[in-house]
Amino acid sequence: MQLHRIRTPADQARPVLVDRQARVVRYLRISLTDRCNLRCTYCMPDGGIDHVPRDELLSYEEVVEIAKSFVAWGVERVRLTGGEPTVRRDLPELVARLSALELAPEARRPGRTHLQVAMTTNAERLPELARPLFDAGLRHLNISLDTLERERFAQIARRDVLPRVLEGIDAARAAGFEDIKINSVAVRGFNDDEFGALCRFAWARGATPRFIEVMPMAAGRLYVPGELIGAAEIRDRIAAQLGGSWEAETLEVGREGRGYGPARYWRANSAEGAKGGSMAKQRRFGVISPMTENFCDSCNRLRISATGQLQACLARDDAGDLKSALRAGGPTALEGVVRRVLGAKQDRHGFEENGAGGPQKAMISIGG
Ligand code: GTP
Ligand code: 5AD
Ligand code: SF4
Repeated sequence: MQLHRIRTPADQARPVLVDRQARVVRYLRISLTDRCNLRCTYCMPDGGIDHVPRDELLSYEEVVEIAKSFVAWGVERVRLTGGEPTVRRDLPELVARLSALELAPEARRPGRTHLQVAMTTNAERLPELARPLFDAGLRHLNISLDTLERERFAQIARRDVLPRVLEGIDAARAAGFEDIKINSVAVRGFNDDEFGALCRFAWARGATPRFIEVMPMAAGRLYVPGELIGAAEIRDRIAAQLGGSWEAETLEVGREGRGYGPARYWRANSAEGAKGGSMAKQRRFGVISPMTENFCDSCNRLRISATGQLQACLARDDAGDLKSALRAGGPTALEGVVRRVLGAKQDRHGFEENGAGGPQKAMISIGG
């Protein structure tokens, strides 16, 4: 039985990556390092993790080689992650090389001819890096920020660097980034009184706030029972803290404003929005709800770890070794690994709301 294929259908000239649920891969998350300059409690185990030796990381040359193959198979967007991607040296150089990759002919749209390069970061190094990254072609920034209170920040990130992060966000705006999202992990008893303030903070900076349900990575070891706040409660809290009513947006994945990821967006009710003039356009927020409103049926992504392991799912540990394939057989050897990993991709994650069912790996090792 053929469970999956990298197909070249008659009506499409390009090969595309399709899994056995007919989900098409358009989005590749590439982790550049498992190191981070922060130590968020829900992300990195207390004692840290055993970091991989630097010579086991994919070189930039290899990252570009792998990305080229995926672009030929229809990938339109890559997201650079970590750990924290900005701790990797000479990052703008990699961004420039990835941004220069031309999309497969059928993936091109008016005004979109090249690979979109996005990054998820904690922003602590953006004061210095925002401009070089923008100049290198980076256009999409997701910035992790769970709280606007300095003491809380120092508590959850185990580093007292909120002022640097805020400076980094300002630097990103000054450098010209127009697509900025602020990612806040929603943690009961920690930042649930700040959702409204985080929305206002983001909107005032032309950014989109998003709230993420806590996922029990690392075999649930970092999961604190009761800290999960489900999507419905997140929305209720935002409505309670900001007032007004909110309606779900129905934009498809890939549409301007919707992004390419699993977030679903809500906006201020249009009648109220009309009153607010142009600022009203920005009154929208996203929720990422793997735990209570599962989105796996629209999963469009694969992940590559910093050591070149191709992972079908954030929530599972099985992987295929792209690095060894590339080193032994060159780019043509990649396809076999991709077929195998995509063929084994499960319908959905196994996270359970009691904190069980997740992968052994910690979030820091793959960056979301
Ligand atoms: P956009 O392209 O801007 O929509 O980004 P994104 O939401 O795909 O990426 P980001 O790195 O900002 O991720 C935000 C949160 O969503 C993180 O907590 C990720 O771990 C989580 N996330 C991203 N993709 C997936 C996914 O496929 N499955 C699950 N369960 N969580 C995901
Ligand atoms: N659950 C949900 N989101 C998490 N992140 C890190 N760890 C977790 C977790 N256990 C978020 C970060 C960042 C993104 C990459 O993933 O805050 O925004
Ligand atoms: Fe680092 Fe990001 Fe994990 Fe925080 S969430 S420890 S910033 S990788």
